[in-house]
Amino acid sequence: MTSQGPMTDCACGLTTGYTLTADDGAWKATPCECVVRCFNCGGSGWVTRDLEGVPFEIRCGVCTFKRGIAARITAAGIAGRYVLGPIEPWSKEQRAVMRWLKSAVIGQKKGAVLAGPAGVGKTQVAVWALWTLLTDHGARVRYRHQRQVFQGLKLAMDGQEGGTAAVILDLTSAPVLLWDELDEPSSEWQRSILAEVFDLRYQAGKQTIVTTNLSEDRIGDVWGYAGPRMLSRLSEWCPIVGMGGPDLRQHKGGER
Ligand SMILES: Nc1ncnc2c1ncn2[C@@H]1O[C@H](COP(=O)(O)OP(=O)(O)O)[C@@H](O)[C@H]1O
Ligand SMILES: [Mg+2]
Ligand SMILES: [Zn+2]
Ligand SMILES: [Zn+2]
Repeated sequence: MTSQGPMTDCACGLTTGYTLTADDGAWKATPCECVVRCFNCGGSGWVTRDLEGVPFEIRCGVCTFKRGIAARITAAGIAGRYVLGPIEPWSKEQRAVMRWLKSAVIGQKKGAVLAGPAGVGKTQVAVWALWTLLTDHGARVRYRHQRQVFQGLKLAMDGQEGGTAAVILDLTSAPVLLWDELDEPSSEWQRSILAEVFDLRYQAGKQTIVTTNLSEDRIGDVWGYAGPRMLSRLSEWCPIVGMGGPDLRQHKGGER
C-alpha cells in the first residue's frame, strides 16, 4: 500500500476512517484507505501552508481526528464479544442505567460501579459508555477484565524486570478505565494490586467504571481491611448502582 495517488476505494464510505475486526479477542481498528491515502494530505497527516511566502506544516484537518480515534480504539482492548457503537437497550433496567450513565458519567468526571447478577447486561452498557467517551469525547480509554489483568501481571513477572510496572502504569494512567468483573481476589498479592490501582486512580481523580457480580454488601470485602475506606471513596467518586433485569444471554431480540 502506497501513499501516492488519490484514494480509490474506501471501506468506511468516508465516514469513520477505520474498519473494525476482533480476530484475536479484542476489537482492533484499522485505518481505512480514506485516511491512509487521504485526498487532502496524501496520508502524511500534514499539509503545507504558506504564510507570507514562508511555508509551514499544519495537521491535516481531514484525517487527523479519524486517525487518532482508530489508534485509541485499538489501544482500548475492548473484548470482541461486546457490541460497539450505539446500542438499543434490551431491558427496562438497562435503559434506566444507560440514562443514568449518560447524565452522570459520560462527559462528567464521575465513574460507576455496576453491580448485579450475571447476564443482565452490565458489561455491555459499560462498554457502551466507554465507546461513547472514546468516539464522542476522544478519551483515551482502557477495557480490562480482572482475571486478564492478573494473568498479564503473572506473565510480566515471569518475564523481564520492570514488566509489572508497565502493566500497573497502564491501569493507573489511563484517563478512563473499565474494570470488568471486580471480584474477591484469590491472594493477598492480588488484593494489594487492587488497592494500588484503585488508590492511585482515586487520588488522581480518574474516571473508573467497574462491573461486578458481587452483591452490593460484599463489594467492600474486595479491599479487605481497607474496605470501609474504599467504600467511602466510591460513594462520591464512583457510586454503586444496582442493576437487575432478565438474563440477556437468552435474548432473542424482542423484549423491550
Ligand atoms: N443492549 C444490548 N445490545 C446488544 N447486546 C447486548 C445488549 N445487552 C446485552 N447484550 C449482550 O448480552 C450478553 C450479556 O450481557 P453482559 O453485558 O455480558 O452481561 P453481564 O455483564 O451483566 O454479565 C452479552 O453477550 C452482551 O453483548
Ligand atoms: Mg460482565
Ligand atoms: Zn474510509
Ligand atoms: Zn489527511
